Amino acid sequence: MSSHLVVGYGPAGAATARLLAEQGHEVRVVTRSGRAPEPGIEHLALDAAVPERLTEAARGATAIHGCAAPPLHRWATAWPPLASSLFAAAEATGAVLVLLGNLYGYGPVDGPLTEDLPLAATGTKGRVRAAIWEQARALHEAGRIRVVEVRACDFFGPGVTDGGHLAARVVPRILAGRSVSVLGDPDAPHSWTYLPDVAGALVETAADERAWGRAWHVPTAPARSVRQMVDGLAAEAKTGPITVRRLPPAVLGLAGLFSPLLRELREVRYQFDRPFVLDASAYEAAFTLRATPVEEQFRATVEWWRARV
Ligand SMILES: NC(=O)c1ccc[n+]([C@@H]2O[C@H](COP(=O)([O-])OP(=O)(O)OC[C@H]3O[C@@H](n4cnc5c(N)ncnc54)[C@H](OP(=O)(O)O)[C@@H]3O)[C@@H](O)[C@H]2O)c1
Repeated sequence: MSSHLVVGYGPAGAATARLLAEQGHEVRVVTRSGRAPEPGIEHLALDAAVPERLTEAARGATAIHGCAAPPLHRWATAWPPLASSLFAAAEATGAVLVLLGNLYGYGPVDGPLTEDLPLAATGTKGRVRAAIWEQARALHEAGRIRVVEVRACDFFGPGVTDGGHLAARVVPRILAGRSVSVLGDPDAPHSWTYLPDVAGALVETAADERAWGRAWHVPTAPARSVRQMVDGLAAEAKTGPITVRRLPPAVLGLAGLFSPLLRELREVRYQFDRPFVLDASAYEAAFTLRATPVEEQFRATVEWWRARV
């Protein structure tokens, strides 16, 4: 049994904290808002961007799981202090820092995404993510912290709600047999990383020092288009065929006036307009976690949403 600090309790932080607790580890979670106690999980309310407070919360932990993120429209100003605070807590306590990252840092690329691609993004959010990893790796190479970054594509599965493309805006409509409208080309192959596999990869890499000092892609089922994912969910839910429409760019532009999320997603719209495929073969060659079979993903996701709508 070891002791873990999970920073953030969005879908990934919650899945990771619960997995660690199920495995019998000591788990402490920090968020600014705090939470009611849960079995096996201690919740603390604090701002993780304040290094003294985060370091205090991390004392005794073997790993710090960085699963918090500011809202997308505040990344340029809010990420740097949060990242610096995570580095400071890792350095002061000696805990390994496991950063949960995404794929924005690569920018638009042709072909499958591997970890050895340059972090060549030019957009603000991509540059923010790239800079965090570049600083983290420099600190690791200087021997000041031990860090690993685990990168996932768009989350899918139980526990993914408002922040997911195939989640709150889509799954309840499928369960009701209604049409869905989606961002980008509904027939472009896309990788969807199953949330329990994200948690599994954070936990596995925290415990294996062979993982530290570099980035890894979370094992992810073979890419499927939005239409194929909707068909899979509809088949599982036995709702009959669901019509999938592409949101017209003009509607998206208008919606962006009211939705900060849609507005911020303009920078990474390329991920949905053409194939966007994650390659996790390096992870699979080194470690034991494998992507959950997609049929199991559909079953668990439909069951989770059925209990909620
Ligand atoms: N969503 C996806 O599809 C996806 C895909 C790949 C990678 N990722 C990455 O995975 C990470 C986690 O994403 P997520 O969607 O699970 O979580 P999220 O929805 O971004 O959750 C944010 C969590 O972080 C906490 N938080 C934010 N700022 C904080 C601060 N200063 N101090 C303490 N807690 C703070 C929030 O709680 P309070 O507001 O109460 O503080 C909340 O619990 C992010 O870095 C994201 O970019 C996401």
